[in-house]
Amino acid sequence: MTADLRADRAGRPLKMVLDCDTGVDDTLAILYAALHPAVELVGVGSVWGNVDVETATRNSLHTVHMAGRPEVPVARGAAGPLTGAPAVFAYHVHGRDGQGNAGTGRTVGEPVAETAAEQIIRLARAHPGEVEVVAVGPLTNLALALGLCPELPELVSGVTIMGGAALAPGNVTEVAEANIWCDPEAAAAVFRAPWPLTMVGLDVTMRTTLDEGHRTRLAAGGTIGGYVAGILDHYMGFFAEAAFGERRSCLHDVLAVAVAAGTLVPTLAPTVRAYVETGDGPTRGQTVCDLRGMYMGFPTQDGARCRVVLETDPAFAEAVVDLIQTAGDSAVPLDREEQA
Ligand code: RIB
Ligand code: CA
Repeated sequence: MTADLRADRAGRPLKMVLDCDTGVDDTLAILYAALHPAVELVGVGSVWGNVDVETATRNSLHTVHMAGRPEVPVARGAAGPLTGAPAVFAYHVHGRDGQGNAGTGRTVGEPVAETAAEQIIRLARAHPGEVEVVAVGPLTNLALALGLCPELPELVSGVTIMGGAALAPGNVTEVAEANIWCDPEAAAAVFRAPWPLTMVGLDVTMRTTLDEGHRTRLAAGGTIGGYVAGILDHYMGFFAEAAFGERRSCLHDVLAVAVAAGTLVPTLAPTVRAYVETGDGPTRGQTVCDLRGMYMGFPTQDGARCRVVLETDPAFAEAVVDLIQTAGDSAVPLDREEQA
């Protein structure tokens, strides 16, 4: 089910801070947030994950500029997990440039002076109760923000993450999804904090995909659509081998943005108790969601605070393609810069 604007905001767009480890699907998420009238994108944070934080920052800056939104501040965030363990990246999924090896190689704009965690806090304080934090990479920045500002849960409207897997299998281990697996200690802190949390995990993001038909449609749009069609090529190749046996790729991060904005309304999303497993055994990084009420229509649970999205309409992919295809031309050059 899709809706144009979330009713309880009386038609006003949602103020959103989007925290990304900007690879291919994050780029689509930033574009969606920058272009959709249901979202007021007030800041972007970058974090390590798909790629190193420098590359993620560069890609976030490039994307907001491409979308004609250079005024959106982009803040650089954490370079590795909370524990100080070495960071591991997913260049094989997103390309060495995080843009499917099809990026421009150009640096556009500069990050702001504050860190991504500081930016979250500043924006939450500037608009108490109005800002939704949407985090679609490892949750390191958000955990750091919580450490710096323990009252943050009272200052934001809520937190929506792309991450975790309630009933679906993991995509790094049998049970762990990548964003949670990268920094389980940070994720555990985010799941423990007393804010309304929405988990948009692999249960739905593996079922909403783009195929070659969508790529063709994107390529027929303006230069933004053409760019997105280009960066999806390598990404689809990864999913063909690792997941689907055919050229199709997950939208992942866009779903979290759209669920937060109310432009994608889940058809099943119980609010339950949930926590992140941080032990060193084979279940490290698992999101354990108490879904035992499933056979009774999910009756109210004491202490439940995590809305776990279990079903959404896969046709949402069409709406994403429509938005990007009709976005027109990039505000910055998209030809590949010659490397010295
Ligand atoms: O598991 C998918 C998630 O990991 C997505 O957010 C993707 O961008 C990577 O960060
Ligand atoms: Ca991501």
